[in-house]
Amino acid sequence: MTILHIDSSITGDASVSRTISSAIVERLRRETPAAQLIRRDLVEQPLAHLTLESFADTAVLDEFLAADTVVIGAPMYNFTLPSQLKAWLDRILVSGTTFRYTADGPEGLVKDKRVIVALARGGIYDAGSGAAPLEHLETYLRGTFNFIGIDPEFVAADGLNLGAEQKESAVRAALGETVRLAA
Ligand SMILES: Cc1cc2nc3c(=O)[nH]c(=O)nc-3n(C[C@H](O)[C@H](O)[C@H](O)COP(=O)(O)O)c2cc1C
Repeated sequence: MTILHIDSSITGDASVSRTISSAIVERLRRETPAAQLIRRDLVEQPLAHLTLESFADTAVLDEFLAADTVVIGAPMYNFTLPSQLKAWLDRILVSGTTFRYTADGPEGLVKDKRVIVALARGGIYDAGSGAAPLEHLETYLRGTFNFIGIDPEFVAADGLNLGAEQKESAVRAALGETVRLAA
């Protein structure tokens, strides 16, 4: 079993998405101590913007395909994902490898891979709320992973900028969720 651990927050040790993604990985490793862990920190080692030339280098794609479980720390920046994480997704959405177009429409080609995303958002974007139309992080990641054949799982800490009490309870609840996820 191989676990690929990805982070994309720029806030280092203060990062909530990094705290939660690490807790998920720790939990998975406790259950499967023999698991191999691959680390990709997209802030420490950023990927360049996509170019036509980048398609020749399949290292990021190969790393993704080789992983059984992928754990991603994803903070919300400006209502969507960090551009560092977008650059990574640009490497793994590859026509003919992770998806293909058929006469019946697009088909995801990635099977048997678990993707768990640790979300951290300053606000609250619950369905039906006034802010919901601005939620382009979870919706984007769900749609994108669905497109390549994966049904991602999410652990979310929300309202992190709405006061210390809300932040503390959101982080505590999210860390509690990691227990359920690993089961
Ligand atoms: C540059 C920047 C942009 C942000 N934009 C948003 C935003 O559009 N909506 C929101 O709810 N929170 C926003 N936030 C708050 C973050 O989502 C929140 O601080 C979260 O904890 C970030 O994850 P992290 O702790 O892993 O860095 C922003 C934070 C930063 C640093």
